[in-house]
Amino acid sequence: MIHLSPPVPWTTAFVYALPHGVVVGCHLPSGPDPVSAEVLSRLVPAERTFAMSLRAYRQVQFVGGRLALSVAFAELGCRRAAVLSDSFGAPILPESLVGSITHKQDLAVGLVARGRVGVGVDLEDTDRVRPGVAERVLTPSELAAVKALVPSRQWVDTVVRFSVKESVYKAIHPALRRYVGFGEVEVWPGTDGCDRVEPLVPDVAAFRFEARHTWIGERVLSTVRAEPR
Ligand SMILES: CC(C)(COP(=O)(O)OP(=O)(O)OC[C@H]1O[C@@H](n2cnc3c(N)ncnc32)[C@H](O)[C@@H]1OP(=O)(O)O)[C@@H](O)C(=O)NCCC(=O)NCCS
Repeated sequence: MIHLSPPVPWTTAFVYALPHGVVVGCHLPSGPDPVSAEVLSRLVPAERTFAMSLRAYRQVQFVGGRLALSVAFAELGCRRAAVLSDSFGAPILPESLVGSITHKQDLAVGLVARGRVGVGVDLEDTDRVRPGVAERVLTPSELAAVKALVPSRQWVDTVVRFSVKESVYKAIHPALRRYVGFGEVEVWPGTDGCDRVEPLVPDVAAFRFEARHTWIGERVLSTVRAEPR
C-alpha cells in the first residue's frame, strides 16, 4: 500500500522504489485553471514550451507527469532531461532510461527505471462499478474466472486486470507501434501483488512480462516490465 502526503497541489505525493522502477506521485490542483508561471518554470525548456500549447486538464496532467518524472530522475541520480512524446503519445526518455506516466484528476504518477526494457504504469479507481467494462476488456476465460469470484471481489479483480493490461500496452506499444487489443493478453492477478501476463498473439509473446499491482487507498497502481525474449 502506497501512502500519500497531504494533498497540496504540485507537491510530491509519494516516492517509492518498486521492483519495476522508481515511482513518484505529484498532487494536482482540483481545477483546470492554467498552470502558473512559477510551476511551469520547474519544467525544462522544451517541456515548458509544449506545456504552454496545452489547455485545461490536459495541461495540468502533462505538467504533473513531468514533475513526477523529474523527482524520479533525481532519485536515480540522473540528470534531468526533457521528456516529450512520440507521435503515438508515449513518453521519450533519455538514452539508458525508460519510463511511463499515468494520471487521474488529482494525481499524476511517473515511473522511471534504468535499462532498455519496456515499462508501463497505470492507475485506476475501484470505487464505482462500471457496467459493461468487464465484457469489453476481459477474454472469455478471464470473464469466467471473475464470475466465479464472490460478487464483492468481481469488480476489483476486473480493474486489476484492466490496469495491468493498460500498463502492458504502455510497455510494449513503443516497440510494436501497433494497437494492442484487450483480447490479445490475459492477466491473472496474484494475491501477493505479482500478476501473470499471458500473451495470446505471437508479437506480444515475443516479450517476457513481469507485472505487479499495489494500492493507493482504493486505487490500483500497476507496473509492468516487458523484456524482449
Ligand atoms: C494509451 C492508453 C494506454 C493510455 O491510458 P489512459 O488510461 O487513457 O491514460 P493514463 O493517464 O493512464 O496514461 C496517459 C499517459 O500514457 C502515456 N501514453 C500515451 N500513449 C502511449 C503509448 N502509445 N505508449 C506508451 N505510453 C503512452 C503518456 O505518457 C500519457 O501521459 P502524457 O500524455 O501526459 O505523457 C489508453 O488510452 C489506450 O489507448 N488503451 C487501449 C489499449 C490498451 O490498453 N490495450 C490493452 C492491451 S493488453
